[in-house]
Amino acid sequence: MTGSGAWLDMDPGIDDAWALVVAATALQIEGVSAVAGNVPVSSTAKNAREVLSLLGRERVRVYPGANRPLIYEPLTAESFHGNTGLGPWTPRASNVFDHALPVWSHWAKAPEAGRTSTLELIATGPLTNLALGYLTVPDFDSLWSSITVMCGAMPGVRADKHDEFNVYVDPHAADVLFQRGHNVRVVGINVAHQALLPLSDVDRLADGYGPIGRFLSAALRFYSEKARGEGGDPNAFPVDDVVAVAAVMAPSLFQWAEMPLTVVREGPMRGALLITPKDEDRPLVKVATGIDARGFRDFLWERMKTYQKP
Ligand code: RIB
Ligand code: CA
Repeated sequence: MTGSGAWLDMDPGIDDAWALVVAATALQIEGVSAVAGNVPVSSTAKNAREVLSLLGRERVRVYPGANRPLIYEPLTAESFHGNTGLGPWTPRASNVFDHALPVWSHWAKAPEAGRTSTLELIATGPLTNLALGYLTVPDFDSLWSSITVMCGAMPGVRADKHDEFNVYVDPHAADVLFQRGHNVRVVGINVAHQALLPLSDVDRLADGYGPIGRFLSAALRFYSEKARGEGGDPNAFPVDDVVAVAAVMAPSLFQWAEMPLTVVREGPMRGALLITPKDEDRPLVKVATGIDARGFRDFLWERMKTYQKP
């Protein structure tokens, strides 16, 4: 994992922002594509650029992607992430982006430029950009050594909700991924909510972590108050997207099962993940079935030592 090339597709969003910070401690981030989700794509792209700037990674390019789901009208989550998408933090990054071409064409063109490596793709927002990649870029699947997504809930388990935000916003996109992706890992809300952080953990970031700590402290103080109890513990809060990054950086913290997946795209169960009926041939998806919650928290604060200032 260390030094692996990675591409992040996300909708920052405060847990996305922390996921980016954690990924940057050990993954070589080749690019970030933003998608409409927690807030509109103009804000998610700006927020991704803001976090990269706070990390001193201004050279990592951010590509604005889809501004709406494939079929449904956009849904946003300002109630959890604030109007800017970063809680009380006012991003100062520019929201001027000069890439007119669809997001993936920049990366997909790289074979002509001699790109040889494939990357780990980590998606922590609605999967619209990935679906557009499969629908518009030849051999899109071959660009990626693995595709890890935070979405949905494992079929058949008692999850606190079946309509997890990323898959509910764009169930059609998630279904395209499960139809066509051949090395896909899913971290669902049922596992992410086994790895809740105590509210007190937010206080650890206020001092000693430099500018990124000051940002995360402000944003997570806001988010933890909005998200506390999501997952069943009023004194803890989920960091769903950080768990998805941990699945790439520390997969041994997780238990996995393989199954073909289909997504319920409309009606009262919109967003539910189902095991594909046997008369339909789909690739197997690695689905997280459990996590070492204590190990995840140790992993997270070990990674954050990267930013500790003496
Ligand atoms: O349901 C949790 C997911 O929805 C996370 O990715 C969060 O950032 C929101 O996008
Ligand atoms: Ca997200």
